[in-house]
Amino acid sequence: MSTVHDHEPESHDLVIVSNRGPVGFRFDDRGRAVAGKTAGGLASGLRPLVADGRSLWLAVAITEADRVAAAQGRMDANGIQLELLDVDPAVYSDAYDVISNSTLWFLHHGIFDLARTPVFNERWHRAWRNYREFNLVVADAVAARAPRRADVLVQDYHLSLVPRFLAARRPDVSIVHYTHTPFAGPDAIGILPSEAGRELAEGLAGATACGFHTSRWRDRFTASLRSLGIEPPATFVAPLAPDTTGIRAVASGEACRAERTRIDQLRRDAQLIVRVDRLELSKNILRGFHAYADLLDRRPDLHRRVVFLALVYPSREGVPEYAAYRREVEALAASVNGRFGTADWQPIILDTDDDFPRAVAGFFLYDVLLVNPVRDGLNLVAMEGPAVNEADGVLVLSREAGSHTFLADHCLGVNPFDVTETSRALEQALDMDPATRSDLAAGLVGELRGRTPAQWLEAQIRAARAG
Ligand code: G6P
Repeated sequence: MSTVHDHEPESHDLVIVSNRGPVGFRFDDRGRAVAGKTAGGLASGLRPLVADGRSLWLAVAITEADRVAAAQGRMDANGIQLELLDVDPAVYSDAYDVISNSTLWFLHHGIFDLARTPVFNERWHRAWRNYREFNLVVADAVAARAPRRADVLVQDYHLSLVPRFLAARRPDVSIVHYTHTPFAGPDAIGILPSEAGRELAEGLAGATACGFHTSRWRDRFTASLRSLGIEPPATFVAPLAPDTTGIRAVASGEACRAERTRIDQLRRDAQLIVRVDRLELSKNILRGFHAYADLLDRRPDLHRRVVFLALVYPSREGVPEYAAYRREVEALAASVNGRFGTADWQPIILDTDDDFPRAVAGFFLYDVLLVNPVRDGLNLVAMEGPAVNEADGVLVLSREAGSHTFLADHCLGVNPFDVTETSRALEQALDMDPATRSDLAAGLVGELRGRTPAQWLEAQIRAARAG
């Protein structure tokens, strides 16, 4: 296994640090830990770019099988030098479930139900100490492994405290922290217990530079830090882009072709509304169904002539709010189907399998793609779909998604809280004449052309080196 000294005095090697790595492990039927690709834009976009032998990716062992694999130290994962860090499971579960997913995710997305949550009791404060501990363990691991003067790119809200800890340990390295979510503004950051809010801000301010998908989240970040009396570090705005090459490779595979046929048989000659999301609160799946029900109510002529394919895959099932939300989504889809469905027409097809070839088939076929998050750092689906769609499909996109900033002219923008507006936008999209559909679709393709994950990575490296 190589160490920091093997690399010296080489400069500008790259170290990616993230919670979830580019590969994850599961046990096969003989109990061996076997690798598989992990989901998500970060992993799919970065995987091909860092398989160069000069980059190191440090991620966290999330599953039991990951922990077994972590014991082998540095591994070659399809050309990526990868190490999985084995963190004490109790510390990790507090850091991931309680702080990252149930506190920071909710805070940055503005989805706390403030009359009830959050509740910062002793249990929570213990979890915060474990979040700190987790970030320290990761910072120590990076400090021990990063080549001299490396560019260290730390990803996302799980690791907000790493920059400060790492800068204290390794002043020679450049540290970028990139936030994939929105960022809480001053009012929201003020919800955190003051010590924790301050620590979060100081943690990030330890970076050479902090990056965001849009200037809106960047501006909230700088305003929040200033509201706490902390001078923000340098910042940059660089939206991630979809891995279109990877999607096309999936599209040409047998599994995706079979899914296209299957979806075509399901929809028959109906128009197809598609959504592809992780099954979670910020994605606003309930209001999407309410809008669709409103449309079916107002437009009986559309009955049997439209099908809503909702590909929503469960995630973070350890978080009670997610489990409850899933039940609500399933109940609402059943109730809309019960109300409008007939023997030969199911208005909503709710699919909770995590099947990427099926999602790509949906991208190719949709007439309308509904992306209506209450708030979203970027939303890659709004870019992945239009990049490969073959039906001049119309994008109905929440104005609260980061990607709306540059897709606004080529989609139907909606206020995600406004069910009536969303219903009208779905209607307008379904009724749209072919020429307008084709113009909008071409506009989307034009806007997305040239946006690549490589550019995004380069922006982070530039920001590291500018510091
Ligand atoms: C989404 C978000 C990212 C986040 C990731 C974590 O992709 O956009 O900001 O890092 O989820 O997902 P996980 O499944 O690891 O909790």
